[in-house]
Amino acid sequence: MAVIGIESSAHTLGIGVIEGGKVLANEMLMYPITDKGIIPMKVADFHTENVRKAVSSAVKKAGISAQDIEAIGYTKGPGLGPCLGVGNLIAKSLSMKYKVPLLPVNHAVAHLEIAKHINGFRDPLALYVSGGNSQVIGMEEEPFRHYHIYGETFDIGVGNMFDNFARKAKLVPSWGSTVAKAAESGRYIQMPYTVKGMDFTFTGLLTNAVAQLKGHSVNDVAFSMQETAFSMLCEATERALMLTEKREIIVCGGVAQSKRLKEMLLSVCNAHGTKFGFAPNEYNADNGAMIALVAEKMLRSGQHYSMMDCGVNQRYRIDSVKITWK
Ligand code: FE2
Repeated sequence: MAVIGIESSAHTLGIGVIEGGKVLANEMLMYPITDKGIIPMKVADFHTENVRKAVSSAVKKAGISAQDIEAIGYTKGPGLGPCLGVGNLIAKSLSMKYKVPLLPVNHAVAHLEIAKHINGFRDPLALYVSGGNSQVIGMEEEPFRHYHIYGETFDIGVGNMFDNFARKAKLVPSWGSTVAKAAESGRYIQMPYTVKGMDFTFTGLLTNAVAQLKGHSVNDVAFSMQETAFSMLCEATERALMLTEKREIIVCGGVAQSKRLKEMLLSVCNAHGTKFGFAPNEYNADNGAMIALVAEKMLRSGQHYSMMDCGVNQRYRIDSVKITWK
């Protein structure tokens, strides 16, 4: 029996199909980002226009028929309101059409769980880095089993900083991988570094990087901003590792696609004899398979929801989610 997962929290519409933890399909369509960034209502229209095509393509690829569908999972949040709304509506329609349970999934839990699942880790410390989020997270049992946030950004997500910088520096397309490419031939210049315990901030670094474009090459600025931001994330992660004494580290979320960040985290892990894992890029980008994976775990651990319980929450924090599976 298969579970369908619908991801629509930001610019990517993802439809995934999972059966017993195995990915049968993972279809993705991405809203083309322009120099104006993301306009939530336009992205929601994009998701609406493409969802029928994406669902039928995923179902076809998975080789399943209507009677094989056991449940529908969707992203409840966090994310952009209008985009979450489209996924929610589609999930409700499919749940009613196939008369199967509906499961509201936390987007951050999904990023973390798929990386954990792929690496076969049991209790990792996770660095979750994306456009909207940057958090150091790990499982805690009290007062209920949940993912505790040990440290996080006080302002913007690290991915958001890269996207903003790319637009200001007129790099096309305006996102992190373009900044990473520019950084390849850069040299280090001093930039502000802000870590408070296990928390950190990025807006000061962004402002400084944009100002430094006046006197330095874009390559040098991109390199220095990237090195500074990743060092901050590594320091916070290392401190959380010392505190929790966990033996595994994973990096997940859109920015986990960065080769340089993975190199730096690996060196932290090597220094402490800690296992290091990450998922292939397909599962670090926003995707439906991770939503289906968590929906399947929720279903198997006995979670049930009425239609009334299945809304959206733009600020759905990972530490408010009760984890009911091992
Ligand atoms: Fe994400």
